[in-house]
Amino acid sequence: MTFLYKANATRGLEWAHHFAARAPELPFRLWPDVGDPAEVRYLAVWSPPENIAATFPNLELIFSVGAGVDQFDFSQIPPHVPLIRMLEPGIAEGMVEYVTMAVLALHRDLLHFIAQQREQTWREIRVTPAAKRRVGVMGLGLLGQAVLERLKLFGFPLAGWNRSPRTIEGVSCYAGRETLPDFLAQTDILVCLLPLTDETRGILNMSLFEALPRGAQLVNVGRGGHLVEADLIAALERGLLSSAVLDVAKPEPLPAGHPFWSHPRILLTPHIASMTTPEAAVEFVLDTIARHRRGEALPGRVDHDRGY
Ligand code: GLV
Repeated sequence: MTFLYKANATRGLEWAHHFAARAPELPFRLWPDVGDPAEVRYLAVWSPPENIAATFPNLELIFSVGAGVDQFDFSQIPPHVPLIRMLEPGIAEGMVEYVTMAVLALHRDLLHFIAQQREQTWREIRVTPAAKRRVGVMGLGLLGQAVLERLKLFGFPLAGWNRSPRTIEGVSCYAGRETLPDFLAQTDILVCLLPLTDETRGILNMSLFEALPRGAQLVNVGRGGHLVEADLIAALERGLLSSAVLDVAKPEPLPAGHPFWSHPRILLTPHIASMTTPEAAVEFVLDTIARHRRGEALPGRVDHDRGY
């Protein structure tokens, strides 16, 4: 019985260290050192290997090392093998930090001041009170909820949009496609924390930007595939949007010369918003394995039909 890891190799060495300390009885292998594939019961991956079912006939659990699972082809995963998203608390905390940073940067016009500093221009911009800056979060899962809880502290009027209904104290919650225009119409800073599925691919497009108040701002911490890139550039040019903070792109890394690199109204980071630490990931994974052995429900289990 082995645990196989296939993701960032440097982090994999840290996983190995924590496995050796926490679960010495469970042999841990780092891709491509697979050993006997029939021995592999647990697989933790970022980009999944080909032919999972045929290669690893005795697989019991698959873990994504990230919160997202859009890199998986669900048809390749045997229905009896649970796929688990990384839902340890540290990943939410990292996302809370990043989104708070991005929302505050947009709220306080940081991109303007960066440009002004480059031009050696000393000019004030009138501060909009937080109470007049409406922040809307798309995607009200674990991460979206954690982000909204923290944003409450600043006094922004808050709204959330989700596929299925949610109730969050102090947040106007909208559910379903038909409510999207109402949600957008009162959102000055839009945060995308949706999972990437066939339903959400390309959702950040011109018609969505047109539904926002003029000059709204965007934070995309979902996936590059949520955004229609040319529409963002055009919306910035038309003044529909005034700025954007993007942590994800398509493809990653973003190719040299791509307009996002040098756009003065875009702040770009290389998909670093939130990452689990090897220690917390190993704890989550071992806890899930223990629950699985006891036949309990598994937090973070992905519904293949929903796609997240
Ligand atoms: C990162 O994007 C993740 O899915 O955790």
